[in-house]
Amino acid sequence: MPDEPFAHHADAATFAASDKSDVYETVLGSAAALVESQRFWATNLANAASLMWHAFEALDMRVNWAGFYVVEPRRHQQPQQQQQGTTGEISNRTLALGPFMGKVACQTIEFGRGVCGTAAASGTTVVVADVDKFPGHIACDGATKSEVVVPILDDAGGVVRGVLDVDCLVTDGFDDTDVEFLEKLAGLLGRSCDWDL
Ligand code: SME
Repeated sequence: MPDEPFAHHADAATFAASDKSDVYETVLGSAAALVESQRFWATNLANAASLMWHAFEALDMRVNWAGFYVVEPRRHQQPQQQQQGTTGEISNRTLALGPFMGKVACQTIEFGRGVCGTAAASGTTVVVADVDKFPGHIACDGATKSEVVVPILDDAGGVVRGVLDVDCLVTDGFDDTDVEFLEKLAGLLGRSCDWDL
């Protein structure tokens, strides 16, 4: 595999097919080719956000946000926002906004809060057909109606390193094929990135 797998990288986000499985296979193939020459998490998540966004657009899925939150040890927050534990350590149970496509979003989310924090704390996918019926849903955008969040686990110990989050403008916007694809993409990214944030 050459360092640069595409004649033009932007071509990777152009989809000839409109069949969901074909589009998703193309995304997974492109993502796999891109990560072969790169392990920096920000680079890989940024291109994955773009691939997802253009795939959902090609499928007319009315996705309004597609991207990532990463687990960070709060050292990047302003000092007044850092909460120290009883032994003085800084909590690392916070998700910070990562690469995404869509409108400006919430910057930090605590483990256990919202759909993202729930998926991160449990280490399992959370599919929300109607966000109004999910207690604690964090409405970064009031137009969002449904959401899916998939945890990203690292290769070493299966530690949660972040979450993949997709929002949709219609209720029940995600089916089993979408979830299966997103879990495969999250698995690929978890294995392919260095998570030394
Ligand atoms: N709705 C999410 C917050 C992140 S935004 O959707 C981009 C949640 O409840 O965790």
